[in-house]
Amino acid sequence: MGGLARRVSYIKAFKHRSNLEVPTLFVDAGNLFTDERFTGAQLPSEVMTKNKWVVKSYGDFRHDAANLSYTDLPYLAELLKKDGFDQRAEEYPFIKRLVSANIQPAADSHLAPVPYVIREINLKRSKPGSKLKVGIVGFTDAKPIGPNQKEQAVAGFVIGDPFEAAKRVLPELKQKVDYIVALAYMPLDMAQRLASENAEIDTIIGARQQNSQDPAHHFNRATITYAYNQTKYLGELRVYLNGDGAVENQITRFIGLDSLIPDDPAAVDAVSSAHNEFTTEQNKKALDTSASLQPTSMLSTANSPFIGGETCASCHEEAFKIWEQSGHAHAMATLENKKQQFDTECVGCHVVGFQKGGFQSLVTTPQFANVQCESCHGPGRQHAENPAKGYGFIETPVGCTTCHTVPNSPDFDFETYWPKIKH
Ligand code: HEC
Ligand code: HEC
Ligand code: HEC
Ligand code: HEC
Repeated sequence: MGGLARRVSYIKAFKHRSNLEVPTLFVDAGNLFTDERFTGAQLPSEVMTKNKWVVKSYGDFRHDAANLSYTDLPYLAELLKKDGFDQRAEEYPFIKRLVSANIQPAADSHLAPVPYVIREINLKRSKPGSKLKVGIVGFTDAKPIGPNQKEQAVAGFVIGDPFEAAKRVLPELKQKVDYIVALAYMPLDMAQRLASENAEIDTIIGARQQNSQDPAHHFNRATITYAYNQTKYLGELRVYLNGDGAVENQITRFIGLDSLIPDDPAAVDAVSSAHNEFTTEQNKKALDTSASLQPTSMLSTANSPFIGGETCASCHEEAFKIWEQSGHAHAMATLENKKQQFDTECVGCHVVGFQKGGFQSLVTTPQFANVQCESCHGPGRQHAENPAKGYGFIETPVGCTTCHTVPNSPDFDFETYWPKIKH
């Protein structure tokens, strides 16, 4: 949901500026749902809540289609259960715009996603009344699980060969539409193969879990553009048609969704309701867990390579006093104020050693909350037991910019930030 409010605001402003003369379509190339902590059984309930808000918001804020990738399948299994489907589709109409030509259910209990959707747009600047039919079709790679290894079956769905699916679906779609957009969750070499084998495709919008802003390039008849991972940038593909409706040119650019783009108020409301519901659920779960927790399931500091800043304080009192006064010492309170202290998308940079044997959650490892000494200097157990020079060298500014990233700390500048926490 990150970035939604700015994305929506940009699109509204764009439509407004062009007096609605430029028709727009709004698509997602895949990986819209999270499969966080999916173990093969059901998704945890708060993760489902998060996903539910995604499917709701995509519908409310008029996305035209979204491609399904292997990461989307655990939640798709909830959405496409035959049992109760009609009711669900009425509540979240966007379910019917989740496309994939190569995902099939393994069992009869589930429906298949539609391979494509067709949108009709009015070409206001061409002959009056002229329309363009756009087919939006989806493909995904199978799930990579190791070097040269892919998992074909995920969460009760089977991911078929995208190239076979393309041969099956595209000729049929071409009969119905003027322009074909293929959404492709796959690496570049596969997207190029898709383009070179299928002359029906006019444009491929690709996605894979990488942050890059490659310029669009042409391959066979198609233009291939990749979306930026996550929602920090909105990719814009402009398609120029000549008087006959044939494609003349396609240009892409990436719009940074930074603070210059105002938030759309309605979308802000949706995002905040989503967060509230999500965090309430997470908090409730965390409390339930802590109530039933055996003392032994807390991560004892003795079992971690980290020891926590209190121990460092016994020898480095001055450094500790300076640290205590810094924002780093209150980084968890900052998340608590936002009710996001259990949000695994947030905690990483606000704690010590997340997913490295340090912080797990506020319930099991409160001692590792906040940005402490070892968040910068690294695990300190051995050093505290055998103090000596040589421990804890941190290269700057890169040691800072792992957390002070452009999106999360846009004003970061080592020369002005370091003096504030120098010790
Ligand atoms: C038992 C005392 C003790 C504890 C506990 C301790 N240190 Fe040290 N630390 C030392 C000593 C002694 C040195 C070496 C000082 C020197 O020779 O200049 C040192 C050096 C350092 C250095 C500088 C290394 C260098 O090469 O100059 C850093 C950074 C450091 N400690 C960080 C920490 C952190 C972070 C913790 C907690 C995880 C910690 N220390 C815990 C005693 C301790
Ligand atoms: C583990 C992640 C992490 C690393 C590494 C990190 N920071 Fe931070 N930093 C944060 C977070 C999170 C905040 C926001 C704290 C808050 O206000 O809740 C912050 C806030 C700050 C602030 C503003 C708060 C204050 O005390 O004035 C400064 C200055 C700062 N960091 C400097 C640095 C510098 C310099 C480095 C590198 C030497 C660094 N940080 C490395 C996570 C990190
Ligand atoms: C990649 C690391 C990183 C992640 C992930 C991260 N933060 Fe932060 N956060 C920081 C840093 C660094 C700062 C300090 C920014 C500064 O002062 O320049 C910060 C500051 C903040 C602040 C105080 C400053 C402000 O912008 O108002 C809040 C609130 C905050 N983070 C909330 C969150 C929430 C909520 C999430 C999860 C959605 C999150 N953070 C995820 C690194 C991160
Ligand atoms: C935000 C990152 C960050 C945090 C948090 C942090 N430090 Fe440091 N620390 C640094 C940097 C950067 C230096 C300077 C290293 C240099 O000049 O090479 C430094 C220097 C030091 C030194 C002096 C090393 C020397 O060569 O003189 C000690 C000791 C030290 N830190 C201990 C601590 C202790 C103890 C804590 C926790 C109370 C702590 N630091 C928290 C980043 C951090």
